[in-house]
Amino acid sequence: MSAVHFAERFGYEPDGVWSAPGRVNLIGEHTDYNEGLVLPFAIDKRTTCAAAVREDRIVRVATTFAPEIVEIGLDEITADTVSGWSAYVLGMVASMRSARLVDGTGLDLMIDSNVPVGAGLSSSAAIECATGVAVRDLWGLEMTRIEVAKAGRVTENHVVGAPTGLLDQAASMLGERDHAVFLDCRTEEAESVPLHAEEAGLVLLVIDSKVEHSHATGGYRERKASCDYACEVLGVTALRDVTMDTLDDALAQLDPVTQRRVRHIVTENERVAQTVALLQSEGLGAIGDLMVASHVSMRDDFEISAPEMDLIVDTAMAAGAVGARMTGGGFGGSAIAVVREADVAAVSEAVVAAAQAAGYPTPVPFVAVPSHGAGRDSAIETAEAHA
Ligand code: GLA
Repeated sequence: MSAVHFAERFGYEPDGVWSAPGRVNLIGEHTDYNEGLVLPFAIDKRTTCAAAVREDRIVRVATTFAPEIVEIGLDEITADTVSGWSAYVLGMVASMRSARLVDGTGLDLMIDSNVPVGAGLSSSAAIECATGVAVRDLWGLEMTRIEVAKAGRVTENHVVGAPTGLLDQAASMLGERDHAVFLDCRTEEAESVPLHAEEAGLVLLVIDSKVEHSHATGGYRERKASCDYACEVLGVTALRDVTMDTLDDALAQLDPVTQRRVRHIVTENERVAQTVALLQSEGLGAIGDLMVASHVSMRDDFEISAPEMDLIVDTAMAAGAVGARMTGGGFGGSAIAVVREADVAAVSEAVVAAAQAAGYPTPVPFVAVPSHGAGRDSAIETAEAHA
């Protein structure tokens, strides 16, 4: 559809349409910026970017969710000149230029998306990666998937101003159907881990809590600052350098709050490694305890859960889920549950009823299918477009 929207807004046909998915993190939260381990998968909700090269050095961006067309000179894009939804698109254009030190050309870009916004499913990474693959192909840049993901992180860190890690963009770029992406954020090496959900009669149920805490950005930044502070005290480059074997020694040097933050990161890395091993040996049905342990660690040690989220996780488990945990940055957003196909309706109904009884926002459960990463959807030949 975004080709049609492009033609409506810009009055001519795009050169092509690209798309990128949102993500759910199966396990490994806040480990990414600590050079640790993560295990996300790309979901079957995507952002599309219909795009065309311009002859001048103007970039114009439009979207189906705002009326305006934002226009700026290619050389004028900085953190100070862009804001709002278009910062993700324009920031990515600038990051792609600097990633490859190319001059680039003007562009017209039309963004459309069905990744829910504010649900912790990385709608912003999906915009960045859809734009990234479009720009890569239109400018003929030789860039690997992880390099495009890194340009997305640069956009978040330096243009949008969020101190995030590589998790979201890596999932959006590297996702594969029926697989999770096991990424080592230190080496940036990734491996696709088969989930075989269907064969196991299991479903990945996302439960959008509809809770978006206003302190999410501040809380995220504070957690990152605690981790950086712990590294200073411990004299390590990143918390990845603390292992299960050295954890007690490390904790002995820290204040109680920092102890909890560090314990979450170190044990979470361990849980990701164990999850990957279990997926390979026994399958998706065996990882439930690790998911719940991860949630408890986020709730009690990293302190990034929310009462609404705890209720969703507890209720899902009581209603028969194999495993459940909050996913993403925290303070609201979505939970991910592994659920037997036969129990999906019961689990969904139970979380909705429990939230309503508690006077919380009504959560929205939906089944997520692990899907392919960012790429080109179609090429529209000029001749065909004008036929
Ligand atoms: C957000 C950030 C990611 C990651 C997660 C927590 O999604 O964008 O980089 O830190 O939170 O795991």
